[in-house]
Amino acid sequence: MILKRLKEATGSRHAALESRLPLLNPDMSRARYLGFLRLFWGYYEPLEAQLRALPYWNCMGFDYAERRKTPRLLQDLRALGETPEAIQGFARCQHLPTLASPGQLLGCLYVIEGATLGGQIITRRLEVNLGLTPLTGAAFFDGYGAQTGDRWKAFCAMLRANAGESGPQDDMLASANQTFETLGQWLFPPYPTPKGGTP
Ligand code: HEM
Repeated sequence: MILKRLKEATGSRHAALESRLPLLNPDMSRARYLGFLRLFWGYYEPLEAQLRALPYWNCMGFDYAERRKTPRLLQDLRALGETPEAIQGFARCQHLPTLASPGQLLGCLYVIEGATLGGQIITRRLEVNLGLTPLTGAAFFDGYGAQTGDRWKAFCAMLRANAGESGPQDDMLASANQTFETLGQWLFPPYPTPKGGTP
C-alpha cells in the first residue's frame, strides 16, 4: 500500500524529471553526459554523507553502506578522464531533502533506490549511443546490474516493514517529493515545482 501511495504521490515529479533528462536521447554527447555525471556526484556525495551519519539504520534492519552510489559515480568520472583533485572540487548541492525522521529517510531512499530501475534502461541506451559500459563510464546508472530487480524487491520489503501508520507515511510522501524536487532544482535551475501529490 505504501509503495502504491509513493508511486502515485511522486508520479508527476518523476515524469517531469525524466522528460528533462536527455539520457535516452541518441543525440546526447559524451560531454553532456559527463556534465550530468558531475551534477549527480554533486548531489549524491553530500546526500550520502548525511545518510551515513543518521542514527536510524539499526532499528530499520537495513544496510545502505553497500548500496552507496557515490563510489559508482566516482568510478565513472575517473573512467571518463576526471582526476580525483578535479572531482573533489566539483560543486556540491546545498539544498538537500530534510532527513530528520525515519519516515523522511525512507521517502528519500525510495527515490534514490527507485532510480536504479530506470537506470537499467538508461544503461542500455548509453551503450548504444555512446559506447559506454558499466566498466567504461556507466556504472552509476547500471545500479546493481543483474541484481537490480532483487535489490529493489528487498528494499520494498524493508520499506513495507517500516512504513508504520499514516503519520510516518505522510512524512515519507513529502520527503520523496522533496527529494525529486531538490534533485530537479540542482540539475535544472530554475526548476518549477510540479503540481499534484504532497507539497
Ligand atoms: C531518463 C531518466 C529516467 C527514466 C527513463 C526512468 C524510467 C523509469 C522506469 C522505466 C521505471 C520503472 C517503472 C515501473 O517498473 O513501474 C522507473 C522507476 C522509478 N524511477 Fe525512474 N527514470 C528516470 C529517472 C529517474 C530519476 C532521476 C529518479 C530519481 C532520482 C527516478 C526515480 C524512480 C523511482 C523512485 C522509481 C520507482 C517507481 C515505483 O515503482 O514506485 N527515475 N523509472
